[in-house]
Amino acid sequence: MKENIIAHDFNVDRKARANLMGHAGLLLWFTGLSGSGKSTIANALEQMLHKKGIHTYTLDGDNVRKGLNGDLTFSPEDRTENIRRIAEVGNLMVDAGLVVLSAFVSPYKKDREMVRKTVKDVNFVEIFVDTPLEECEKRDVKGLYAKARKGLIKDFTGVNAPYEPPSNPDVRIDTTQTSIQDSVEEIWKCIEKKLL
Ligand SMILES: Nc1ncnc2c1ncn2[C@@H]1O[C@H](COP(=O)(O)OP(=O)(O)OP(=O)(O)O)[C@@H](O)[C@H]1O
Ligand SMILES: [Mg+2]
Repeated sequence: MKENIIAHDFNVDRKARANLMGHAGLLLWFTGLSGSGKSTIANALEQMLHKKGIHTYTLDGDNVRKGLNGDLTFSPEDRTENIRRIAEVGNLMVDAGLVVLSAFVSPYKKDREMVRKTVKDVNFVEIFVDTPLEECEKRDVKGLYAKARKGLIKDFTGVNAPYEPPSNPDVRIDTTQTSIQDSVEEIWKCIEKKLL
């Protein structure tokens, strides 16, 4: 069937839209354990970017799982499908010229590499929120670690499902060592030139 699908070439392209926006589109990919601080830092960073006049959009785990990916579970296959759809949506948004912040546990290396390939290397920034499991569990913002330890949640990353850390992230943040504001500054330093 796919051989009968032939993409149309449109004249207004990624570059033209970026020109009009005044900056390039980027996908800022936050990965890390639940409670590591992905949404918190993404939220603070988006406020900063917004103030600077940069057009942003945030794709956040729980929000996307309530809508677009409401049909998916946390099995390895569904986690991969979850990330595949987000990669495709993120890519469309980057194509439209937005700086997209995405905050998903995204525990598998191969899935994150698939995202990088989908949006292209130059548009992808991997931010590893490397907060130790003990600290995430102590915070237990959503009460999910306690539930997982009681055996009430299967496939919970860090407890009974694996997390594969990035080996070469663009930014690595340990939130037991770095404040929210310093994390934002560090990411800004990394992306500033990529926005030109
Ligand atoms: N330096 C810091 N950076 C980020 N978060 C911090 C920091 N210090 C403490 N926190 C707290 O850690 C918690 C992080 O929770 P957050 O919801 O952002 O995690 P998450 O990675 O998005 O988790 P999930 O995958 O479950 O959505 C928040 O309560 C936040 O206030
Ligand atoms: Mg979150």
